[in-house]
Amino acid sequence: MPAGEEQVQTWHYGVVARWWAEFNTAGPEIAYFRQFIEGDGQPALDAACGTGRLLLPYLRDGLDVDGCDISPDMLELCRERAQREGLSPNLYPQALHELDLPRKYRTIFICGGFGLGGNRQQDLEALRRLYEQLEPGGRLVLDNEVPYADAKLWSYWRKEERGELPRPWPPAGERRRGSDGAEYALRSRVIDLDPLSQRVIFEMRAEMWRDGELVADEEHQLKLTMYFKDELVLMLERTGFAEVLVRGQYNDAEPTRDDDFVVLIATKAG
Ligand SMILES: C[S@@+](CC[C@H](N)C(=O)[O-])C[C@H]1O[C@@H](n2cnc3c(N)ncnc32)[C@H](O)[C@@H]1O
Repeated sequence: MPAGEEQVQTWHYGVVARWWAEFNTAGPEIAYFRQFIEGDGQPALDAACGTGRLLLPYLRDGLDVDGCDISPDMLELCRERAQREGLSPNLYPQALHELDLPRKYRTIFICGGFGLGGNRQQDLEALRRLYEQLEPGGRLVLDNEVPYADAKLWSYWRKEERGELPRPWPPAGERRRGSDGAEYALRSRVIDLDPLSQRVIFEMRAEMWRDGELVADEEHQLKLTMYFKDELVLMLERTGFAEVLVRGQYNDAEPTRDDDFVVLIATKAG
């Protein structure tokens, strides 16, 4: 199968999607990305919006933001949460590398969604489509966890350590009770890491209990391509962006070697 046609594989379905909707609702990313949208950064697209962690607070504040995501489960929960507040966002079930939306945007932001599910060729195609989806002068803003952020994962870049893979399942995690009364627990493990293609495969086990009885026990895999800062800059330049800036972990400063995340801000020529 040509690399561009490889099946996208992400774990944001079923119980994992419910977990996101219940428990992943805050974080410094919300205020950080907002500054790019307020004022003349609209309309905006939250690409890989998930269950609306960023999208919903922005809509609540009257910002003009659409959302898209590959997972219909994430989008369904995003829609439910929006409807509870009387909001009805435009939500599109599309993979980033197949993006084709009816309107153009002043800002497109991707929070925690770039490099997920596909391969390098699909990620390049995603950048090309995101570029097409921007108005002249528009900006693409995306964050990226650096490949060395997680010490254990970084150790698997060495072949001596990769003998441990796939890792066994860790012990069952702590159960958390959701607003629906159900209890949830997630655990994940590394299956494989290929430093040549910079790809890692994770597996997640997601369990859900109602009244003490196990009602869902799911396993999902996630493929992820890891990117270094300068590699992303080159990819964005190759896509055609006129200017690419790099910032530190959700701040306006230059990135440092101690940042676990960097933010790339790419501007399309006006
Ligand atoms: C880590 S979550 C982040 C969600 C949201 N941006 C946030 O910050 O709360 C990643 C999201 O990316 C979506 N996703 C993964 N791979 C994708 C792809 N290739 N195209 C579009 N969405 C994708 C998942 O379904 C999931 O909702």
